[in-house]
Amino acid sequence: MQDQKEMLEINKAGWDEVADQYFGIHALPQYGPYAPTEDELHLLGEVAGKTVLEIGCGSGHSLLYMASRGAGDVWGIDLSTTQVNYAKELLQENRLTGNIQQMSMENIDDLPSEYFDIVFSVYALGWTVDMARTLSNIYKRLKNGGVLVFSWEHPIQSRLMYEDDKMTYTQSYHSEGPYKVTWRGVPVIMHHRKVSTILNKLSNAGFFIERVIEESRVPETDESSPTTWYSGMKARLSPPTIIIKCIKK
Ligand SMILES: C[S@@+](CC[C@H](N)C(=O)[O-])C[C@H]1O[C@@H](n2cnc3c(N)ncnc32)[C@H](O)[C@@H]1O
Repeated sequence: MQDQKEMLEINKAGWDEVADQYFGIHALPQYGPYAPTEDELHLLGEVAGKTVLEIGCGSGHSLLYMASRGAGDVWGIDLSTTQVNYAKELLQENRLTGNIQQMSMENIDDLPSEYFDIVFSVYALGWTVDMARTLSNIYKRLKNGGVLVFSWEHPIQSRLMYEDDKMTYTQSYHSEGPYKVTWRGVPVIMHHRKVSTILNKLSNAGFFIERVIEESRVPETDESSPTTWYSGMKARLSPPTIIIKCIKK
């Protein structure tokens, strides 16, 4: 397996390639497929006047949402140059100012320390090639009492597959680590991490874990095929998305 620098280069090239397929996908108030939304959960609290940073801001649609809620100072970082350009354009089109920079979440030394009230991330934080470093980076950038809210694909999601008319385990839930995969036609490096690993790393970084959400919301009218990656049938059995809120104490 490649070292972290190489992994980031592979993922940057991949995301630059697929960025246009993700325009406005996985953006607040949505936390992810079949997940409860921010409108229901109210995890972010009062946003008006707050200094906010999005980790893996993608096309900038969640930044737009935060600005629409009156965030005072809007920042975003993303590994992909294409995504950063999309996000900058989106804010400009909406006559909003924001501080959007191309950088990896593992290397955010140029961001101010103890500056942000809210750091958030929607389906991006799990892309990290170094979870401990990323969480310690975020912890450092938050003010005391600041919150981190993020969603990610629940680690059970990649382990279950509908095959031969039944839901089966394709791999062990316990086996963690990086793996190379062709995703949307491009090679990328992903990591499998158990829920306990994520929670323990948050705790090791100094965070107080306030809420963990492992729930699904499947509309009665859902007609998705059970063989698709995210399906209503699968979501009724296990949560596709995990959402975590924690505090810098
Ligand atoms: C699913 S998208 C996030 C979409 C975003 N929530 C929105 O509202 O548009 C995941 C993002 O994570 C970014 N990403 C992947 N690895 C990263 C890393 N190591 N550091 C920073 N961003 C990363 C990708 O470039 C991509 O834009």
